[in-house]
Amino acid sequence: MELTQRPRRLRTDGVRSLVRETDLAASDLIAPVFVDATTDKRQPIESMPGHERVPLDEAVARVQEVRETGVEAVILFGIPESKDERGTRAWAEDGVVQEATRRITAETDAYVITDVCLCEYTDHGHCGVLESDAQSEPTVTIKNDETLDLLERIAVSHARAGADMVAPSGMIDGMVGAIRGALDEEGFEHVPIMSYAAKYESAFYGPFRDAADGAPAFGDRRHYQMDPANAREARTEVALDVEQGADVLMVKPALPYLDIIGEIRREFDHPVAAYNVSGEYAMLQAAAEKGWLDLEETAYESLLSIKRAGADLILTYFAEDIARQL
Ligand code: PBG
Repeated sequence: MELTQRPRRLRTDGVRSLVRETDLAASDLIAPVFVDATTDKRQPIESMPGHERVPLDEAVARVQEVRETGVEAVILFGIPESKDERGTRAWAEDGVVQEATRRITAETDAYVITDVCLCEYTDHGHCGVLESDAQSEPTVTIKNDETLDLLERIAVSHARAGADMVAPSGMIDGMVGAIRGALDEEGFEHVPIMSYAAKYESAFYGPFRDAADGAPAFGDRRHYQMDPANAREARTEVALDVEQGADVLMVKPALPYLDIIGEIRREFDHPVAAYNVSGEYAMLQAAAEKGWLDLEETAYESLLSIKRAGADLILTYFAEDIARQL
C-alpha cells in the first residue's frame, strides 16, 4: 500500500501525549456540596453513591475533603430547615447556605460558588413565585418579574456571607441583569455571575432532586427550562445573559448536550462551564455497580469529552474521584 497519510504514526506511546489536544486538570473542576439544615449527621444520597448531605457543622470538613484532592472550587446547595410558598429561607441572613458560606470562607481557601434558586426553598418546589392558578393549569407558570425580586435578595445575601461567585439556575428571564444590578448597588461589583444560561428541562436531574429535596410538588419545569429539542434557542439565551453581564456561561446537562457546548464555545468568548449532572453521574455508578462498565475510565472519558467539546470548567460529582486519579 502507498499510504501517504498514516495517522497511526502519532499514536505510539512516546508521541501520543505530545499531540494530545485536550487535557483535564483538577483546576477545571467544581464539586457540588449539599448542606442540610434538617440533620446533625451526614446523610448518604442513595441515588448518588459516594455523596452525602452534610449538616452545617460538617460543611467545613466536607470542603476540606474536596480541597485535599486538589479541587479548588465548590458549588453549594442548601436544604433549609423549613419551606414556604415564597421560599423565604433562601435569602435569610441565617439561612443554611449563608451560614455555610461564612464558615467555609473563614476556614478554608476554597473558591465558594452558590446556586441562586428558589426550588429547594419553596414548598411547591418550583423555581419562583407561582401564578395563583398554577396548580390547576396543565403547565405551571411562574410570575417572572416578581421572582426576579427574590433572586436579587438571594444573590445579595450570598455575597454578604462571602460567596466568591453566584450562579443563578432558575431560567427566569432577566435574572442575570437583575442580579448584576442588585450586586452592584450593594457594593458587590467584584462578584462574578456564572449563569445557568442554557439549562434544559432534563430528566437527568432526577437524583439531584432527591438529594436537594427539590422536586416540584406538581407539574414540571417546562415553562421555564429549555426544550431539549432546541439548539438555536440556546444561542439566544446565552446572548441575552452576555448582554446582561454574565461572566461565565453554563450549559446543562453536559453529555447529552455536547453540541450546545461546542456551539457556545465557538460563538462566544466568555468562559464556558458545563454541568455534568446527577443523572450522568448516577448512570455510570449504576452500570459500574453491575460490573458492566469501568467507573474510573468512563468517568474520565466523560469529563475529557466535555472539555473537548469546548467547556473550560466542569461542575461534576466526579470532581474528587477524577482529581485523585490525575
Ligand atoms: C436548581 C438546580 C437543579 C440542578 C442544579 N440546580 C435542579 C433542577 O433544575 O431541577 C440540577 C443538578 C443535577 O442534576 O446535578 N435549580
